[in-house]
Amino acid sequence: MYESTDKMINLIADNYNLLESLGRFGINLGFGDKTVQEVCEDQNVDTYTFLAIVNFSINNYESFDGYEHISVSTLLHYLKASHEYFLDFQLPNIRKELKTALDENDNLARLIMKMYDSYAHEIRAHMKYEEQNVFPYVDRLLNKEDVDDYDIETFSKHHGQITTRLRELKNIIIKYLPSDTQRNNQLTAVLYDLYKNEEWLGLHSEIEDHIFLPTIRRLERQTKQDDVSAKISKMIHQSPDNGEVLSDREKDVIVSLVQGMTNKEIANHLCISINTVITHRRNIARKLQIHSPAGLTIYAIVNNLVDISSVKL
Ligand SMILES: [Fe+2]
Ligand SMILES: [Fe+2]
Repeated sequence: MYESTDKMINLIADNYNLLESLGRFGINLGFGDKTVQEVCEDQNVDTYTFLAIVNFSINNYESFDGYEHISVSTLLHYLKASHEYFLDFQLPNIRKELKTALDENDNLARLIMKMYDSYAHEIRAHMKYEEQNVFPYVDRLLNKEDVDDYDIETFSKHHGQITTRLRELKNIIIKYLPSDTQRNNQLTAVLYDLYKNEEWLGLHSEIEDHIFLPTIRRLERQTKQDDVSAKISKMIHQSPDNGEVLSDREKDVIVSLVQGMTNKEIANHLCISINTVITHRRNIARKLQIHSPAGLTIYAIVNNLVDISSVKL
């Protein structure tokens, strides 16, 4: 497990694959002998999130559970940049290599190109779905905007592995493609890239399943809780909007209501007519903007109009 005090250069020396990850975090080379924390702070990357992904990538640290410390914006930036790197750089690059390595007059070669294109199409669709639905949803969660039209469970159910076609493609090249030495070298280079690609894609999916999903589930729960708390707090601490305060009689009506009395019982109890009780109730609702008995009960308890033990719950 790497820590924030380790030197960044040592991480790279141990695992040169991390070079690719650095770019996706927006970390540039040229960091001298600085520690992980110093480099991250210099480049505005959350150190904890960086280390969580690095340690997960290297050690497949599946018992990771520090989701509350993950910076969602750093994680999101990393995932988006990974997609960009993959779709705009890696996929077209491998296609180019493959085209050069294949004999275009060979029917089998044409079929392989077709397989590659359909594989690339599948990956693109998978990533575009995340970019168009999941990532904007998380942005909205972070900005505390309305998120009722989507949830992370929907994504979780449909998020599968996308490497099956790739495996098939590699096997066909290895098993059936005849080639001379020159093509053999080129094809071996492409195969090497395809293997790396498959490994990288699997890791990307695992980071989404084991770090991104639980982190967003937690954020979702938190946001919903905050929302409910904010609504309750607004309701109980709200003073009458228009500056109107409750009269003593209206407070008496609230106390009676909270104790479970009907309009008729309140009228008898306070020696007023039922119509007057109804008028008081209408005025209370208007002044407090509270319309439910439960809301009035909370208001009465919080404002010390009644003792909680006298309330019929
Ligand atoms: Fe993704
Ligand atoms: Fe994915």
